[in-house]
Amino acid sequence: MELPSTPQVTRRCFVGGCAATALTTGTATADHQPCGKLPPGTVLAKKADVPLNGGVVVYFDDETSVVVAQPKKGTYTAFDAKCTHQGCMCSEVDNNLIICWCHDSRFSSVDGKRRSGPAKKPLPLIRTKVKGDDIVVA
Ligand code: FES
Repeated sequence: MELPSTPQVTRRCFVGGCAATALTTGTATADHQPCGKLPPGTVLAKKADVPLNGGVVVYFDDETSVVVAQPKKGTYTAFDAKCTHQGCMCSEVDNNLIICWCHDSRFSSVDGKRRSGPAKKPLPLIRTKVKGDDIVVA
């Protein structure tokens, strides 16, 4: 089964809070493909949906979620949302920190490096590019 070309659900995480929201409806879901296998051109988010110094968490399936952040105006980053500690999904971006609430690990939204908490490894980077209004897998 192919991955949808658009994410099905995203969780907007602004500085100071989160709100779940439907973004777009895709036609299919992936079969547990790691984020590194998202094909080039896969739309991760719309630029307008990614707040400065914050980000969104885009859900593809139970094993595949991507954090898309904007740590600097016009600069977008993306990471596999699966926490490198014990595999929970990071669910919030606050003040340029990607947060996994399971055991409170925090990662930089600039480079994915661990800033605090029990995780030891950084979040895997997903290479992206801007295509029109979208942020897509490069
Ligand atoms: S699984 Fe993320 S901090 Fe433990």
